[in-house]
Amino acid sequence: MEDFEKLGVFYLGREYDLQAKAPRDDLLLYDSKDLVTHGVCVGMTGSGKTGLCIGLIEEAALDGVPAIVIDPKGDLADLMLTFPDLRPEDLRPWINEEDAARKGLTPDDYARQQSEFWAKGLADWGESGDRIRRLREAADFAIYTPGSSAGLPISILASFAAPAAAVRDDPELLGDRIATTATSLLALLGIDADPIQSREHILLSTILNTAWQKGQNLDLATLIGQIQNPPVTRVGVMDMESFYPSKERFELAMRMNNLLAAPGFAAWMEGEPLDVARLLHTPEGKPRVSIMSIAHLSDAERMFFVSLLLNEVLGWMRSQPGTGSLRALVYMDEIFGFFPPVAEPPSKRPLLTLLKQARAFGVGILLATQNPVDLDYKGLANAGTWFIGRLQTDNDKQRVLAGLEGAVAGAAASFDRQAMEQTLAGLGNRVFLMYNAHEDTPVVFTTRWTMSYLRGPLTRTQIKTLMDPRKAVAAAVPAAPTAPIAGVAPPASPVEAAPSMIPPAAAPGPASGLGGAKPLLPPGVPEYFLPVRGARPEGGSLRYSPALLGAAAVHLADAKLSLEQSFDVTALTLVLADPVPVDWERAQIVTVAIEDLERLPADGAAFGTLPPAAAKAASYDDYNRDFVSWVYRTQSLQLLRSSGLKQVSRAEESEGEFRVRLQQAAREQRDVLKGRLQEKYTPRLAALEERIRKAQQAVDREAEQARGAQMQTAISVGATVLGALFGRKKFSSATIGKATTAMRGVGRSMDQAGDVGRAKDTVESLQQQSADLQAEFQAEVDALETTVDPQSEVLEALTVRPKKADVVAKLVALAWAPVWIDAQGGQTQAFE
Ligand SMILES: Nc1ncnc2c1ncn2[C@@H]1O[C@H](COP(=O)(O)OP(=O)(O)O)[C@@H](O)[C@H]1O
Ligand SMILES: [Mg+2]
Repeated sequence: MEDFEKLGVFYLGREYDLQAKAPRDDLLLYDSKDLVTHGVCVGMTGSGKTGLCIGLIEEAALDGVPAIVIDPKGDLADLMLTFPDLRPEDLRPWINEEDAARKGLTPDDYARQQSEFWAKGLADWGESGDRIRRLREAADFAIYTPGSSAGLPISILASFAAPAAAVRDDPELLGDRIATTATSLLALLGIDADPIQSREHILLSTILNTAWQKGQNLDLATLIGQIQNPPVTRVGVMDMESFYPSKERFELAMRMNNLLAAPGFAAWMEGEPLDVARLLHTPEGKPRVSIMSIAHLSDAERMFFVSLLLNEVLGWMRSQPGTGSLRALVYMDEIFGFFPPVAEPPSKRPLLTLLKQARAFGVGILLATQNPVDLDYKGLANAGTWFIGRLQTDNDKQRVLAGLEGAVAGAAASFDRQAMEQTLAGLGNRVFLMYNAHEDTPVVFTTRWTMSYLRGPLTRTQIKTLMDPRKAVAAAVPAAPTAPIAGVAPPASPVEAAPSMIPPAAAPGPASGLGGAKPLLPPGVPEYFLPVRGARPEGGSLRYSPALLGAAAVHLADAKLSLEQSFDVTALTLVLADPVPVDWERAQIVTVAIEDLERLPADGAAFGTLPPAAAKAASYDDYNRDFVSWVYRTQSLQLLRSSGLKQVSRAEESEGEFRVRLQQAAREQRDVLKGRLQEKYTPRLAALEERIRKAQQAVDREAEQARGAQMQTAISVGATVLGALFGRKKFSSATIGKATTAMRGVGRSMDQAGDVGRAKDTVESLQQQSADLQAEFQAEVDALETTVDPQSEVLEALTVRPKKADVVAKLVALAWAPVWIDAQGGQTQAFE
């Protein structure tokens, strides 16, 4: 049971014999890559869906695949209850005391009984305390409770922030995002809005669109302000006042304001931002299982939150590079009402888009429901894996089969509806029919015991008990260390403790004093104005000081490190008095973007004086040359290198982000190697199996009487090894006889006959060959293990400096830097 752990197959259970009503020996191993095409799990209440999906999340976590788990009922929080030793006292705080009472047991006795029960369950499935320990260490598990402070709080404010460029640049995606945000926000206000008809929806969409197009963030307060004072004056061909008069807009604004002011609502604004990257990995790059508990919310609030979350997932996903390996899981239990066939709740669009697009990004979507009639099967035609459990009504069965038929239509596998129907009728609890588009035939299996203690839904108090220690830590550590450690290094000789770029008031520089009108400059002097930020102080004024802005693109390439990166440097240095008006050694790195520079000054500002040298076009060639040389001398990149995967971090990437990327690269590499091994060994082993089967038939012919009881199938060793490594894929095909019988049992009863002996020899010799081949194969698998773990690998720190030719000035210009001057003459920097 060790080998598959390194090959990305998920141990979900054992195949199940419906006739005998007993599990078979064969493990049900599921190839993690298959989940990239998503999974659906249906079955009546109590059929074991949640148990199955929890098992799957556990397997994913063990494999370093993070998950976002949407938990409408509260029982997925059981993923937090993992106890390697399963002592009664471990379980005691979590047992269901009502169950204890019902059984007439004291809580302590019940905890003891449960501990034995769970330990036995796990042992029966070959799962050790060690595996549970590894699970706990593999990922960071946490419960979030939006709109409540029981678990970790999560702020939805960021969801009104402009989506990532990847979303903004795709009109369809941006449109969907705007529509779902508006719809879910209105739903929260109790307004059931039609996106095309409703004024409220059109107004909100317009506001969101106007801001987001420009990359501007919104918050609820701004949104309320803009409802009253919309950023546009026309809607279509109508002017805003006739379309939606201000008096009525005010009512909408009030309604939203009341929502904001409601006592409970503050909880929605607290906590870390709803940021998918942070939900999937810790800042250090460790995978996370983030359980989004929404059981405490009203229907409208759930819809609101789930839609926002799914949209965030979409936005995050689109900014990831493509992959064929599983990168993350999004699991939603009980999607009843979120993905209906006819209606269009705000959750449906993002779910549909995810089902269609997520596979290219390695994001697997797993959906479970007890109500198969409430699913949009057209949308589920993209689902590659179906887990169908016990169903209650015939209507349910027919709907699932019809849906499955639609999904199978595109796949190569055949679909025997009648056989399926019969199978479905025979399913019991925790027994599922799995249809996997990547495999030849459907299979019936029973789910393995979960490592998590399934106590049922956790209460709010229990969630609080679990998460309070985490909150204490979160409060003690200020902001997450998001600052990239690999990044542009500060200038080698930074300007001494200068908190801002305000020229010293009494400096000998001409920039001091109140200043006068803007000096006239000859043509050829490039002149810009830094955009003014901040508010004018009471009775204050604005003054521009002369400065030089330099922007350069730095290209770094190192063939040995297979490194090729570019980064930009923008620096500002104040123009001081002669004799050295421009000194780049005093420059500071600034964040202003060249595109944001203004051509004209703000109205009514005064100007500092410009030394004559800086007013001559010819000087700018020197400034340019000096700037390039300064960048070359002072700027470098601090990067990290993984020798295991031969990759170098990127300029904008933190160590944690780099480790996340390395983990995915390692997973991709493993999947490729695994594929190669599979191609190499499967046909050879299968051929041997076939010869063994034929030889076995010969034995059977020679010893007819031995047929019958002994023919009961036991899977051959070869099959077990292959199956254990690759999952059932390509393995269920007829070439490898499931009928292959284990030799020993059959053999012993046939010893007397010489012919039988000879036939047996052949079988044994073939089995030896098969065993040798497996050993060879095993050795290759073991070699896979030697690759380093990107999560803990010691990374090498690199400092990469540019060559002079690699620094290219994009702009060196006179840039007027605005300063606010208050009534008392105090100065504050008025730019970023
Ligand atoms: N894999 C499993 N391991 C151990 N117990 C399980 C497992 N699956 C289900 N059970 C038991 O069966 C009960 C019902 O299963 P559950 O998965 O909650 O059903 P569903 O989600 O389909 O309603 C669980 O509370 C648990 O006691
Ligand atoms: Mg359930």
